[in-house]
Amino acid sequence: MKVSQIAVIGFGVVGSGTVELFYKNKDLIEKRSGRKMDIKRICDLRDFPGSPFAEKFTKNFNDILNDPEITVAAEMIGGKTLAYEYTKKLLSRGVSVVTSNKELVACHGAELIKLAKSNGCNYFFEASVGGGIPIIRPLHQCLAANRIERIAGILNGTTNYILTKMIYDQVSFEQALADAQRLGYAESDPSADIDGEDACRKLCILGSLAFGKHIYPEYVHCSGIRNITLDDVEYVANAGYAVKLIGLIEKTEKGIVATVCPRLVPISNPLSGVNDVYNAIMIRGDSVGDTLFYGRGAGKQATASAVVADIIDAVKHENADIASLTWEDSTDRSFMVPYKSADVRVYVRVRSDDVDSLKGLITALFGYVDFIPRKMRTERELAFITPSIEEYQIDKKLALLSEHADVMRKIRLL
Ligand code: HSE
Repeated sequence: MKVSQIAVIGFGVVGSGTVELFYKNKDLIEKRSGRKMDIKRICDLRDFPGSPFAEKFTKNFNDILNDPEITVAAEMIGGKTLAYEYTKKLLSRGVSVVTSNKELVACHGAELIKLAKSNGCNYFFEASVGGGIPIIRPLHQCLAANRIERIAGILNGTTNYILTKMIYDQVSFEQALADAQRLGYAESDPSADIDGEDACRKLCILGSLAFGKHIYPEYVHCSGIRNITLDDVEYVANAGYAVKLIGLIEKTEKGIVATVCPRLVPISNPLSGVNDVYNAIMIRGDSVGDTLFYGRGAGKQATASAVVADIIDAVKHENADIASLTWEDSTDRSFMVPYKSADVRVYVRVRSDDVDSLKGLITALFGYVDFIPRKMRTERELAFITPSIEEYQIDKKLALLSEHADVMRKIRLL
């Protein structure tokens, strides 16, 4: 029986997890793929003395590219330079590529999918969004009959872990981040996690798949969690909300709107209870309504689970591309609308020497607002939640308010 030969490129956290999981469950994996399979080569520039996979290592990518037996390669390098070059070379030769590289898919997905299809192979990236959560395949296969209306998700494990540790364990931001790095959750440059870029890339992938046009990271308004303080967390908890970094893309009457930013999630929404490294993604389809996908969003074993699943699928579909895994390229963002044209409710925290007059001014500007009580609140502070109106209008009103008070914080609601 022919053995399907696999290559793994990059033996870091996810690459090594992929190889270990493959050999741990090889019997089951082969049964489920209906083929004999093996990992023939592992490419990495580093040395791994004493590794049980010693005979498979190579430092030369061409050993993989020029090996006619290798039909599937797992690109676990990350980034957009070498990974991009290697992926194009492999796909051009008809070798299917699977990856957890969200940056590459978010920036070059349309091109790489097209290249795979024109060479009769596949480009799979289940592990690029939500770590081990099945989300890419459900979106383009199980939900294929639906027009997708909205996707809202906690898409970054590191920031969710940090927020959870800060809120529940009173751990400092720096300590929580160091723990996330030690556990292998964070990006090599963790500012990509903290500032929302990682979640943005994942939102781009989901949005492109859902709406059929490439949504590039620069089309998405993106801000991270650096400005969230425990004061805000305490205020909003009193009002029945949790602060989460949310990726949101939805089709409105005006067009598609996409944002990644901290949002207040009401405790009635299951996303509010998603803690630690867990991610969760809600997808709303016109037929199915709301669906929820939940699981470990980062980490060696969880992510390897998705990579190996892609390897199995790639082996099963040698010489047959998956038609539904695709989207068109886009040259401009005219199909999207500015996020500030969307209606939204926002939480605002203000400081003033005359809080009573300020209350009157806030009510005059916004009509009815929910003022939020807080134990231990300073006499000079107020926090409130606005009604739902276009964000441009909210900003105009806050500009007027700032002539009389210090507007310290504005956080959108989900
Ligand atoms: N740094 C990413 C996260 C890894 O924390 O979610 C998984 O994509």
